[in-house]
Amino acid sequence: MDFKLTDEQLLIQKTAREFANDQLRPGVIERDEKAEFPAEQVKMMGELGFMGMMMPEAYGGAGLDTISYCLAMEEIAKADASAAVIMSVNNSLVCQLIKNFGSEDQKKKYLIPLASGEKLGAFSLSEPQSGSDASNMRTFAKREGDNYIINGTKNWVTNGITSDIVLLMCLTEKGVGHKGISTFIIEKGFEGFSTGKKEDKLGIRGSDTCELYFENCKVPIENRLGDEGGGFKIALGTLDGGRIGIATQALGIAKESLDRAVEYANERKQFGTEIGNFGAIQTKIAQMAIQVDAARLLIYRAAAKKDEGIPFGKEAAMAKNFASKVAMDASTQCVQIFGGYGYIRETGVERLMRDAKITQIYEGTSEIQELVIARNVLAGN
Ligand code: CAA
Repeated sequence: MDFKLTDEQLLIQKTAREFANDQLRPGVIERDEKAEFPAEQVKMMGELGFMGMMMPEAYGGAGLDTISYCLAMEEIAKADASAAVIMSVNNSLVCQLIKNFGSEDQKKKYLIPLASGEKLGAFSLSEPQSGSDASNMRTFAKREGDNYIINGTKNWVTNGITSDIVLLMCLTEKGVGHKGISTFIIEKGFEGFSTGKKEDKLGIRGSDTCELYFENCKVPIENRLGDEGGGFKIALGTLDGGRIGIATQALGIAKESLDRAVEYANERKQFGTEIGNFGAIQTKIAQMAIQVDAARLLIYRAAAKKDEGIPFGKEAAMAKNFASKVAMDASTQCVQIFGGYGYIRETGVERLMRDAKITQIYEGTSEIQELVIARNVLAGN
């Protein structure tokens, strides 16, 4: 076991930190207030190779390992958790799914522009009646000759409005449960495909989330990804990796909360001394530091297993469950240490608390992560 980062990994961390400080921090409070997508910054992230970090260079990616991806993601999330989720969805859901399950033609046509950051992707699994019970979907693709005709509504789609390409999971056969689900690559311009309004969210307000509508949307058969009926396993297998990304987004929020709390505790004076000299504050800082390190170690273990090509679903679920709780706890403690100053928008720490909450919800709630972990543990894994 080696806890040292390589020179290449350190360079990626430094590049991401500098980018985050120079390009994401300025304006993050305003973007949050206006719910404004960081379009310019996402374009720059593509140019830096951050939108397809783990994809082979031959497919427009940076050809890096998952630890490098986590290092960059933590830095981006520290500055702007909205930019982090945009990055996470494109990297670990969209690009990864096409790389693992797409045909050579699909990789050439779709993966190259997505991994190079020229295009942006979205991943669409949930529907109004099916969130945690993800296979309980209604959107239906009816085969007609060399096409499918798709009808239905999807929701909670991150990057839904801004994306150029959507990976859609929907039924191709009814009444056979998850074995009737298939995956399709949908282009924004396809007739019969439209997006709903941007959801007005509590946090990660810079990222866009919306419903997708399919009304007799005609999709060519070559846009089906993988076999008919294989879509649910493709989705769940991909979400295992996505959960490492979201766990790291949570880690970034938690680390930022710790850093902001430390800075404030060393500055703010009460009763004639810096508040960091009080045991009550020290206990909070110590607990935050332990939790942040523990979350990072769980994430790196899942990432290392993924890179080794061995099953990592349980480890990814553990990392996401734990890191998202740490993000919630650390951001709440950060606001507490700031007191009244933490409760106003200007200092920017209340945003951390709002941004943290979603990490316990999307890409599988904390309760679903516990279900995945418990099933694995009970099965002796
Ligand atoms: N990888 C591959 N296959 C898997 C798998 C995995 N990790 N987990 C299960 N499967 C397979 C099973 O082996 C099974 O196949 P067989 O029938 O052939 O044995 C099949 O998939 C169905 O598995 P289950 O019976 O375990 O399915 P289930 O209905 O009990 O549900 C669940 C399992 C874990 C609850 C799953 O539905 C789940 O993860 N729900 C949460 C959904 C989720 O994470 N949604 C996120 C939405 S996307 C999002 O948030 C993105 C965004 O925009 C940020």
